[in-house]
Amino acid sequence: MSSESPSDQSPTQDELDLLHYELRINRPVRMKIPEFLRDERLRHVIFSGQFNVDMLEELGGIADKIRVLSKMREGQDFLIKLLHHKRAMLYFTQPSTRTFLSFMSACQILGITCNEVRDPTTSSETKGETRFDSIRMFSSYFDLIIMRSKLARLAESCAYLMNDLSETGNRSVPIINAGSGADEHPTQALLDIYTLQRTFQFTDPKDSPITTRFDELRSEYPELTRGLSNKVYGFCGDIGRGRTVRSLASLLTNYENVTLIFIAPNDPTLALKDDLRQRLADQGVRMHEVESFEDQIDGIPVIEQLDALYMTRIQKEHNDPNDEKHFAELDLSRYKLSQSLVSRMKTFAPILHPFPRDQHFGEIPPEIDDDPRAMYFRQARNGMWIRAALLATIFGVHHQITSFFHEEYGGVNDRVRMTNAK
Ligand code: CP
Repeated sequence: MSSESPSDQSPTQDELDLLHYELRINRPVRMKIPEFLRDERLRHVIFSGQFNVDMLEELGGIADKIRVLSKMREGQDFLIKLLHHKRAMLYFTQPSTRTFLSFMSACQILGITCNEVRDPTTSSETKGETRFDSIRMFSSYFDLIIMRSKLARLAESCAYLMNDLSETGNRSVPIINAGSGADEHPTQALLDIYTLQRTFQFTDPKDSPITTRFDELRSEYPELTRGLSNKVYGFCGDIGRGRTVRSLASLLTNYENVTLIFIAPNDPTLALKDDLRQRLADQGVRMHEVESFEDQIDGIPVIEQLDALYMTRIQKEHNDPNDEKHFAELDLSRYKLSQSLVSRMKTFAPILHPFPRDQHFGEIPPEIDDDPRAMYFRQARNGMWIRAALLATIFGVHHQITSFFHEEYGGVNDRVRMTNAK
């Protein structure tokens, strides 16, 4: 099969296979979560909704330890032996730089051997093989499948396929969703949360624009607390088609007293989608939808209220001819940052972006890169550490990492050690 586009003609076998799982797909996430565990441990990673605050803290702590151990030869030697008996397939049929390479690097840190299929025209899918047959074949040769696809529910369906195979006594391996259509990108949300965890500790100069001066900062911002709770998060740009926004916004609902502000054109393609709005409302999250950084909430412009800003690219590769027409009538310049806008942000507020940014649209011009609030390159590097922590957890070696770390560092507070970790 050479195209990932849904067809107007008779359904393909891939589409029929997806239909086979439709009933299970259409259940609420909370009903699915137990199916993504094995022996109470994470097995498949499909949605950000699988993670709660305790899990996020634990993952962040493991990532911190891996990044510290990776700086020392003996730490590297320890890590690389942990999973050297495992093999991973990176099945990325949609373009990727960061997710693909950071997963590959994470595998290498832990000694996992990787292989890849990125271009399905080089695989037997060109001979008519379905994706589900491909996945089952991968599971014969590998111990883990990390997959990215344009098809929204493919990763989830593959997790069910693996579970069904397991039920019938066949070989079955974990599935990690590395981006599924416009739906979810759960491991991006993990690295976004990890970046925010580190930033809002206000301890490491590399992670926070303002760091050791937390007490001074409190005199300027008396309400400021450490941690992700009690914060105002802004999401700007292509909110409607941003799978990273969907995954991160869902995860942020786990924290106390958060406000989400979506800054997007009032346009059916680009604005917040009804299902996410409903999900957030069901969680009781305080949220606002505005069309500009200059719009005011309680008399204060949005740009001055944010504790963190998550910029996104207008994903024009998903435009249809209708979008092109009505986008031409919108003022999209309002969804670009400028140095003058950044100068009005809170001094500690990190600017995040899942990347890639669009050099032609310019939602974050390069001159902002030197601002201490620009956290997006560090955010991308954090992806490698948190993905290594995730792999260690899935394969159950995370406790060994914790034990080794404490043997090396005794009673030293974990967070102290992070200060020197790049
Ligand atoms: N953020 C992200 O998913 O980047 P890539 O598309 O380069 O993997």
